[in-house]
Amino acid sequence: MKRTREMLTIRHETRTDHPAVGELNFVAFGCRMDEANVAIFKRNLPSFDPDLSLVAVHDGRVVGHALFNPQTIRLMDQDVRVTNLAPVAVHPDFQKQGIGRQLIRAGHEIAREKGYLLDMLLGHTTYYPKLGYLVNAFGASSVTVNVGDIPANADADMVIAAPLPTDVPALVALWEHAEARVDFSVRPLDTILEWVSPNPMVSAFVYHREDHVVGYARLKGAWGERPASVICFIAADESAARGMAAHLARVSGLSTLDLPLHPYSSGAAAFGELPVANAWEAAMVIPYTEAGAELIEAYYRAGAIDQRATGRTMWGTAFDV
Ligand SMILES: CC(C)(COP(=O)(O)OP(=O)(O)OC[C@H]1O[C@@H](n2cnc3c(N)ncnc32)[C@H](O)[C@@H]1OP(=O)(O)O)[C@@H](O)C(=O)NCCC(=O)NCCS
Repeated sequence: MKRTREMLTIRHETRTDHPAVGELNFVAFGCRMDEANVAIFKRNLPSFDPDLSLVAVHDGRVVGHALFNPQTIRLMDQDVRVTNLAPVAVHPDFQKQGIGRQLIRAGHEIAREKGYLLDMLLGHTTYYPKLGYLVNAFGASSVTVNVGDIPANADADMVIAAPLPTDVPALVALWEHAEARVDFSVRPLDTILEWVSPNPMVSAFVYHREDHVVGYARLKGAWGERPASVICFIAADESAARGMAAHLARVSGLSTLDLPLHPYSSGAAAFGELPVANAWEAAMVIPYTEAGAELIEAYYRAGAIDQRATGRTMWGTAFDV
């Protein structure tokens, strides 16, 4: 059945919509809970803004949902207030009728009015460019380390523990020192939820040396065919990076480690070769304002003439689920 636009309402999500939104995300993403859990986790963050979580309602039924999460990223050495669209879903029975487009446009309008400069996301390259998103905005960066090249006792003087709420100020300061030059790195919030994972397969470690926090990492355990992987790695300096790598090699059993360092991270040169950053086509942005457009243009221009390494995001714990 073809539905008319008049039958559809786009409005803010309310508490009573949560179960329907959960079911919608489950069904739309191929009957898996990953994205439904991302939405649940994001609603718990202090940054969550219910004005930016929208539902499309057809005949009293929630048939679409889009969540724009506010965050602050570093871009061209500035703090920039942006949104991150994830997840967005339309019920399979209602797809390709313009509902996704309406939800996303409505979210853009609200975010623009609230003063955000741009939206960033990871998504279908066949879909979002139609709505004006620009591809290859950021990507991933890593360095591959042969575990045999790291002295096994490089972490001997480190105290290694799971994160505690009392560590949060030191962890935020560590990020500020280590990551603030990296474009598209997301400024962590002042909450332990940013540093512990909701996924029991993911372990988080804080590395202390002489009572100072010098590192933080998250390791996703091996699962089925998938080997263990380091999904977050923030080191105060090169020596901390080597100590952390020695520990992660031991607990993961891996013989090579792919560490998500960036050429501009502190500790980047710890392993000889510098990390390599690559843009992903699926990593997209859309500016909301003139200022956002100018910033993005300057960023792409600097990248095109090799003046700036492409940015990268270490996704927050919301995406560990
Ligand atoms: C992606 C999704 C949200 C799009 O919602 P939608 O309501 O179906 O999209 P719209 O009808 O607004 O589509 C707008 C345009 O994109 C096209 N389009 C829709 N879904 C598409 C897809 N998956 N791939 C490529 N193009 C797509 C439409 O044909 C339309 O093109 P047109 O303007 O040239 O006619 C929806 O398909 C969905 O929920 N998919 C499953 C969950 C998902 O993948 N979410 C996004 C994660 S990045």
